[in-house]
Amino acid sequence: MINALKQLERDAQAEAAALSDRSALEDLKVKYLGRKGLFASVSAKISELSPEEKRLAGQEMNRVKQLLETLFSSKEGSFQSSGDDSVRKIDPTMPGTFRAPGNLHPLTQVMSDVVDIFERLGFCLVDGPEVETERYNFEALNIPLNHPARDSFDTFYLDNGKLLRSQTSTVQIRVMEKMKPPFKIIAPGKVFRPDATDATHSFMFHQIEGLMVDEGVSFADLKGVLFAFAKEFFGPKTKVRFCPHFFPFTEPSADIDIWSEQRQSWLEILGAGLVHPNVLEAVKIDPERYTGFAFGMGVERLAMLRYGVEDIRQFFENDVRFLRQF
Ligand code: PHE
Repeated sequence: MINALKQLERDAQAEAAALSDRSALEDLKVKYLGRKGLFASVSAKISELSPEEKRLAGQEMNRVKQLLETLFSSKEGSFQSSGDDSVRKIDPTMPGTFRAPGNLHPLTQVMSDVVDIFERLGFCLVDGPEVETERYNFEALNIPLNHPARDSFDTFYLDNGKLLRSQTSTVQIRVMEKMKPPFKIIAPGKVFRPDATDATHSFMFHQIEGLMVDEGVSFADLKGVLFAFAKEFFGPKTKVRFCPHFFPFTEPSADIDIWSEQRQSWLEILGAGLVHPNVLEAVKIDPERYTGFAFGMGVERLAMLRYGVEDIRQFFENDVRFLRQF
């Protein structure tokens, strides 16, 4: 009898493995475990055995019956998980999980728009480090240790003698050390100044530096490029104003303002000028042969003008109600 049970077990496993659909599984269950099924008919023979044999045969009966039950129910499970929706009870009309699409931060949008415009004018995008040495932030830019202009470019100093750059003009030097003129570059990035925070100041903000060096570059080139940029970025009717200014690394220097209809006033958006001969000399470019212009614009200022934002702090608070508007 024990052998007959073992044979039954093997047959059932083979038949179950060959099953292809649920209704055949029902038939198989009846064939083996039904009231008049194979298991019942083999088990009936137990009455013919001696008490000692009955004990062993009884144990085997329990084992095989349990095995058949698990076999059929796992088979049923496999039909369900690969089966149709009526079995899984899925309601395909239920609403799905909605994920609102995100959007770029307004400052990122402004930076990539500005970079796009300058790339169309032939400028290459470059990058520079935020942790800098005094040489790149000051000395090579014609700001010696005792020069009063250090105050307006003051910054945060690190324990290792380095500092956080207070202007992207550092990238001018890094580029000129490596490249031979002619070149035109644009360099966006973060800068740091220990200013008290208010509606128009932040200890961290963004600038976009531009630099062009070639033979015969003049102030007229600077004006042409910046006018083209302003009209492209703010619109064809934009009014632009150049005002004389001082920067240690440019000569002559200017501040450039944009007329704000909203504020009914001029707003300064960038500083610029012709690269100072001392700066060219510091990077071993012959100032007798080459000239260049440079400019640095404030990204937050551009964004405030473009979107009518009145407080610079809103850009950094990560309030999604504000950021979702852009
Ligand atoms: N680096 C200057 C600033 O941060 C801006 C500037 C850049 C001016 C290049 C002239 C030329 O204010």
